[in-house]
Amino acid sequence: MLDLSHVRSTLSERFDLAPSPDLAASMQDVYARMDRVVSPVDWAVYAPYVKAINELKAARNAVILGHNYMTPEIYHGVSDFVGDSLQLAIKAAEVEADVIVQAGVHFMAETSKILSPQKTVLMPDMEAGCSLAESITADGIEEMRAKYPGAPVVSYVNTTAEVKAASDICCTSSNAAQIVAAMESDTVIMTPDQYLAQNVARDVPQKNVVFWPGSCIVHEQYTAEDINEFRKWNPETKIIAHPECPPPVIAASDFSGSTSGIIRFVSENRPKQAMLVTECSMASNISDEFPEVEFLGPCNMCPYMKKISLEKILYVLVTMDNQVEVDPAIAEKARLSVQRMIDLSRELGL
Ligand code: 13P
Ligand code: SF4
Repeated sequence: MLDLSHVRSTLSERFDLAPSPDLAASMQDVYARMDRVVSPVDWAVYAPYVKAINELKAARNAVILGHNYMTPEIYHGVSDFVGDSLQLAIKAAEVEADVIVQAGVHFMAETSKILSPQKTVLMPDMEAGCSLAESITADGIEEMRAKYPGAPVVSYVNTTAEVKAASDICCTSSNAAQIVAAMESDTVIMTPDQYLAQNVARDVPQKNVVFWPGSCIVHEQYTAEDINEFRKWNPETKIIAHPECPPPVIAASDFSGSTSGIIRFVSENRPKQAMLVTECSMASNISDEFPEVEFLGPCNMCPYMKKISLEKILYVLVTMDNQVEVDPAIAEKARLSVQRMIDLSRELGL
């Protein structure tokens, strides 16, 4: 576990990280990307960290891969690439850098390491897990194979390297339906997200999709009753949900897609009002880009994603602590599952 007082004393020996309105003013171009959602007072706090991180990144030939659920100061201030799980995995494999800092959760860092074993992959906080990744082990995959002999196993990227290694192919929320549809067998095993699997089953009726009973603690909290009640009072609002939500929530929504699919929908449709049925930072991150869209409604926080902070990013860049390692034998098998997903996605034009 990261000792925050040690983190702070290490950083204060090397940097002046006191809030600085002058420095904040000199970094107006960066602030302009988030000024609708980050107050000037908060920006004066963040600016010294953003400056230190960006300088150190260049010195270490490092890149920061930021997931769409990062807070705005991370998403807009220090990330070199932002995106959903599939986009970040592809970027990890392609990017030319010695070091990747994964501003996201642990399974994403493992995926980067699996695809780029020669790079150093740093996690700002090793405890940034995921309820889905924690819900299944490689034994669970074997249990499903024993129950449905011959059926291929499609595992969500929100899994550990061991689970990916035990699976036939991975998927993300942006390609799950197409990947399941492309399997030869009539029965397809999907792990570990029961709701993503049920949503895919609805879209791919020609397959018998069987699933593991895992769920995302952020998205499982939404109910169709909440959505219908919200719609009653806000009939003009477009309701856009992530496919980790239970099927009745998706049925009550106007659109469902991965985090990048959600951004694309907002960009293409520019609704007057939108409710994003997903993690809270999504709406904050895109509200400067779409000032004409009013984002309404409740959102839920992912406690794992929220473990990542500017302070921890700077600390791992200074110390090079928290390097993510994957056993090479497991990584080799896991790479096959992830690479099959990337190749099939390209083949399908996704
Ligand atoms: P995306 O692939 O849609 O970014 O989802 C990742 C995730 O963890 C959502 O909860
Ligand atoms: Fe995992 Fe859900 Fe958090 Fe995504 S939002 S990292 S699926 S717990």
